[in-house]
Amino acid sequence: MATERVDASELLLDGPAWAGKVYLNTAAEGLLLKSCREAMLQYLADKATGEPGRIPMWAALERARGRAAELFGVPASRTALVSSTTEALNTIARGIDWRPGDEVVFTSVEFPSNMFPWVDLSETGVRKRIVSPRDGRIWLEDVLEEITPRTRLVTLSQVSYATGQHLDPRPVWARVRNSDTLLCVDATQAAGRVPVSGEHADFAVASVFK
Ligand SMILES: Cc1ncc(COP(=O)(O)O)c(C=O)c1O
Repeated sequence: MATERVDASELLLDGPAWAGKVYLNTAAEGLLLKSCREAMLQYLADKATGEPGRIPMWAALERARGRAAELFGVPASRTALVSSTTEALNTIARGIDWRPGDEVVFTSVEFPSNMFPWVDLSETGVRKRIVSPRDGRIWLEDVLEEITPRTRLVTLSQVSYATGQHLDPRPVWARVRNSDTLLCVDATQAAGRVPVSGEHADFAVASVFK
């Protein structure tokens, strides 16, 4: 994907706090974009009008779903907006009818939000199969090796928050797509930087603030 040079001052809020400083986005918590601030102010303005304000608010929601759908390459009807990636992952984890002996595959370098929901399932008899890095990186073949007929779900970051490694989830999708195994891709560090395909996963989740 081509990278585009942008003038940060066009996108970010001006402010004495960072005037004269260099802003390096480390993808931890990005600064609020001018466009976000404007959208939030518009929301408050609409909200302040009472019931008539609902019409533009719902329209804004549908536009946001349309743009998320474009980013993930899926129809808008297959997108949902929730409060955070953490909420999305917990909703997925709590929405599956787990059976004792089911297995979940994830890596030891996932963001905690993509580990705790699965670790928390231990009480229901769900087993964890954790893939650790070798030579500082996760190898797809190690992930594929952990998939067994008991695997109910594989969950992976497309780009690691810890190392920045970009892992292509498509070989995992090719392996599980016609089986009972679900694939969840955490695209929080990937969306907007590298192509993300919602068509190559059962669930693709991302935050908007990177
Ligand atoms: C890879 C990854 N997944 C999940 C999260 C959590 O996102 P949220 O704060 O939207 O729950 C983060 C946050 O940094 C992240 O980097």
